This record gives sequence, structure tokens and C-alpha cells, in this order.
Amino acid sequence: MEPGAAGGAAPEEAKRPCADSDGAAAKRRGTSVDDFAPQSMTLEAFRRLSRNQQKKVMRQELWDGRAAEFKDKQRQKRRECRRRHNQRVARGEAPARRPASEQTHSGVQVVLDMAFDDKMCDKEIKSVCAQVARCYAVNRQAPRQVALHVSRLYGKCRQRLGSATHYENWDAKHIVFHDAEYIDAFALDKHRLVYLTADSPNTADRLDPDKIYIIGGIVDKNRYPRLTLDKAEEQGIAHARLPIGQYVQMATRRVMTVNQIFEMLLRFIEIGDWRTAFMDVIPQRKFRDAPGGQEPEPEPEPEPEPEPESDGSSCASTEKAAD
Ligand SMILES: C[S@@+](CC[C@H](N)C(=O)[O-])C[C@H]1O[C@@H](n2cnc3c(N)ncnc32)[C@H](O)[C@@H]1O
Repeated sequence: MEPGAAGGAAPEEAKRPCADSDGAAAKRRGTSVDDFAPQSMTLEAFRRLSRNQQKKVMRQELWDGRAAEFKDKQRQKRRECRRRHNQRVARGEAPARRPASEQTHSGVQVVLDMAFDDKMCDKEIKSVCAQVARCYAVNRQAPRQVALHVSRLYGKCRQRLGSATHYENWDAKHIVFHDAEYIDAFALDKHRLVYLTADSPNTADRLDPDKIYIIGGIVDKNRYPRLTLDKAEEQGIAHARLPIGQYVQMATRRVMTVNQIFEMLLRFIEIGDWRTAFMDVIPQRKFRDAPGGQEPEPEPEPEPEPEPESDGSSCASTEKAAD
């Protein structure tokens, strides 16, 4: 069925001519039903039609005339997009597309826990959503992908992810969304849940395909220390931190962003070496002794005083996926 006809799956651009019933779009292009000269019938026959039928004929003919031009433009757009992507791949800024046939499944399961909507200001919501999108993108490209889940996506995060990425259309082979909290979504597998949190005294020295690893879907600029550790302890599930300090010397605290942790997991699964995984993912400037690196930050006190809830005014996160 051609775009513009009722029920047709028309491209957005193609739908426009029929979007306004008063023929305003046609007038803007210099054609209105009153001075339209049909090609598919005589002018007399056209005039005998009802107003609605005339509009329908006009829209159809306008579309027929523009279809080739429209398709050509779409083709050019796709070509340009591909060219820009290839340039980014050549500069090492984007991974080369990997055919699905070259991907294998690692058996590891990872959940992004999005239950912290009310703890973030708008900038942080944008930032965490960019991080979720990044996780999906790298999982699609990873040589050994994980079963990636997102739990308790609601409120502003849900809205933002929808408007910024149309996540509803993401490929369910690479990501699965749950309305429920992971503790309910995986109720029968509670003993397999491991919350990854920088505050845990335990370390995850290896990744077990039998476990389900949870990453806290939050950008909080350290406003909520122990947030995820406390949650895991309250729920009685296991927790662990990644062994970052054992392999690399950091200039800053070892609290990473959601996508950094996720990318470390993927890299470790691929090469089986934590040090390389950390070196590949952590930004250079965060290493101690890095040229232009930051001054070491003091490690947090074991039991820091909780800071007051943010009213959003101190929210200073960026919109980038990783900081
Ligand atoms: C920006 S951090 C959130 C910090 C937050 N205050 C908390 O209590 O988790 C985002 C998430 O990344 C994961 N994460 C960050 N650094 C980690 C580390 N060193 N080891 C394990 N997981 C880490 C945790 O799941 C954390 O919830």
C-alpha cells in the first residue's frame, strides 16, 4: 500500500501530505484542491468528486510525483550516515559493526536497576539514560554479549529514555525491560543475585555465568554513599565490588558510572583479564600519575554522614554517557 493511504506503514515524510485535512500543506507547496489539475482523470470528473475524494486524489498524485525524489533523499541520507560512521570507526571513536553471526553469548546476566528515579535531578536523569543507551549499544557490538535486563524503569527515566532513544524499538535479543524490581522479576533466583557496588567489602574476582549481576542505574555524584550496598543488605542478597584497586592505581575514588562498569564486565568476559579491562575502560586522567591527572581524592570514611537530599540545584552532571 502506498504511503498516505489509510493503514499504510508510511515513512514520516510521506505521511505529511495527508496529515492536514484542509489541504494546507498542498497550498504551501503551491497546490490547493481548487486549482489542482489531475493527471489520472479529466478535470470535469475531478470536480464531480466530493471534497474528500478530491483531496484523496490530489494527495495520491502529489505523492506519486514525489516518491522518487523522496526515496532518493532517503538513500542519500543513509549513505551520508554510513560515511560519517565509517570515519568515526577509522578514527577509533566508534566500534566497527559486528555481524550478529560473529557474536556469542557469554551466559552472564546483568541487570540495570533503574529504581532511583526520585533521587536524580533532570540533568542526572538525562545522563543515566545516555548511560543505559550506551550499555545497549556496546552489548550489541560485543563479541561475547550478556543477557542485559533493565528493571523498574519508571517515571522521568522512562519518559526520557522514550523521548531520547525510543527504547521500545530496541532489539529484545540485546536488552529486556521489566516494569518490576529485579527482586520480583527474578524472585525464584534470589540466591543468584549479586549487587555490584563500590562500597562492598567483597570483591568479584571472576564472573559466574550462574549469577545475575546488578548495576545501580543512578548518577548521584556521591550524594548517596552506600545507597546500593544498603539496598542489597536490606534485601538479603549478595554484593561485591569490582577489584579495581588490586589492578590499577586510581587518582579518584573507585566509583564508576553505570556504563563504565558494564563495559568493564563485557571486556573482562571477552579477554578474561581484569587489568586490561580496567585500563581499556577507565579514562586515562583518572589514573594516578596520569599526565594531567587529578589529585588523589581521599577515600571516603567507612561510615560517612549522609548528605542532605539534593533539591537539584547542586546537580552538576554532564549529559555524556561517561564522565
Ligand atoms: C555512579 S554509581 C552509583 C553510586 C551510588 N552512590 C551507590 O550507592 O551505588 C553507579 C553504579 O555503578 C556500579 N559501580 C560503580 N563503581 C563500582 C565498583 N567499583 N564496583 C562495583 N560496582 C560499581 C554500582 O552498581 C553503582 O550503583
